[in-house]
Amino acid sequence: MNGASTTIRVRPGAALRGAVRVPGDKSLSHRALILGALAEGASHARGWLPAGDTLATLGCVRALGIAVEQEDATTLTVHGRGLGGLRAPTAPLDCGHAGTAMRLLVGVLAGQPFASTLDGSAQLRRRPMRRITGPLRQMGAQIADTDGRAPLHFRPAALRGMAHTLPVASAQVKSGLLLAGLFADGPTTVTEPGPARDHTERMLRAMGAGVTTDGFSATLTPGPALRPLDLTVPGDLSSAAFVLAAALLVGGGEVRVNSVGVNPTRTGLLDILAAMGGPVTGERERLEGGEPVADLLVRRADLRGTEVGGDLIVRAIDEFPALMVLATQAAGETVVRDAAELRVKETDRIAVMAGELRKLGAQIDERPDGFRIVGPQRLRGAVVQGHDDHRVAMALTVAGLVADGETVIEDAACAHDSFPGFVETMQALGAEMDWCDHD
Ligand code: S3P
Repeated sequence: MNGASTTIRVRPGAALRGAVRVPGDKSLSHRALILGALAEGASHARGWLPAGDTLATLGCVRALGIAVEQEDATTLTVHGRGLGGLRAPTAPLDCGHAGTAMRLLVGVLAGQPFASTLDGSAQLRRRPMRRITGPLRQMGAQIADTDGRAPLHFRPAALRGMAHTLPVASAQVKSGLLLAGLFADGPTTVTEPGPARDHTERMLRAMGAGVTTDGFSATLTPGPALRPLDLTVPGDLSSAAFVLAAALLVGGGEVRVNSVGVNPTRTGLLDILAAMGGPVTGERERLEGGEPVADLLVRRADLRGTEVGGDLIVRAIDEFPALMVLATQAAGETVVRDAAELRVKETDRIAVMAGELRKLGAQIDERPDGFRIVGPQRLRGAVVQGHDDHRVAMALTVAGLVADGETVIEDAACAHDSFPGFVETMQALGAEMDWCDHD
């Protein structure tokens, strides 16, 4: 990519085929750094994601006094200093656009014996933080915020372990609370209404922490020192989602995405696609570092509409921008409900995707907690905006593959927040897509 390019140009007509890999899982890459920092000794991660969001976490962890060696872009050694080993940062910690970095670090900083400040981009400063600061204050945390948002200022506090019941399933909130629980005086339990991703619980358990789960409840009992991690990070299913979506729409043969994480708390999209008549096959299923991994295989399919709600939402939470594009091409009605969380992601993804797809000629019925789309619809190439939201920008490139004529996605450099090499990966499959200096 040209370093200055922020615009992606897409043309239709290509028939995708071939095998690719996608970069490492973003959720696991954040956690490898944060949990690795708290371990006693050197943790190793291969296949780590060097993207905007995770590099922000890397900066924060280093600012907390943790040495991190990068052998190459994707191979890290995190020199953890144990639960009592973080150092007071000398400046506010900058989480960039990364909501996961912020919500997990809130949990870690709440129980430290030093003061600190967590901050982020203007986009992150707009996102709600009371969902995590509220329960932490009940544990005794001393956190000052700005109308429930970042910047967040922490004062030293002794935390009490307690049981929390979350109104909305959120892995970020659950993880922040369990991490705070490492510094509390007794067990911390988090009960959620649905199956939010469980990477933190799996990783903590692999490190020797006292974590038990029961349905949608997880309990952390503080005590043992954390053992270092040795982790191979699988490809990110939420990045693979754009490749799978493109292949379903314009595949010209088999498309494979090798070595993708298929933790069942993350595979909602695969269930939705199966219901839409676009099955994705998993091959060579295996367990790597406590996480299920598979090679995914898909072909073009005539999709049909479906209904999505309930527990499926949290298991597919980052995949709705791509799903909205697929729904415009599926025969019949696709209805998504129970997905109001989409409105507080990097952007209001319901409003932003509906607005941009309308520029391509789509008809979208927006609802407070989802949307209704009746397809198939003809899309016409146009100039659209990525809104500095990586998943919006990438979803719009998939729409461009089926639109008539050329689609130009401006403000798309954000694709690097989670998927460095996205355009190049699509090109490798035959997509007519490039970075351009459009003005
Ligand atoms: C994430 C959890 C999800 C997801 C985000 C990553 C994580 O957010 O949208 O991209 O790594 O824990 P919520 O837990 O707030 O739904």
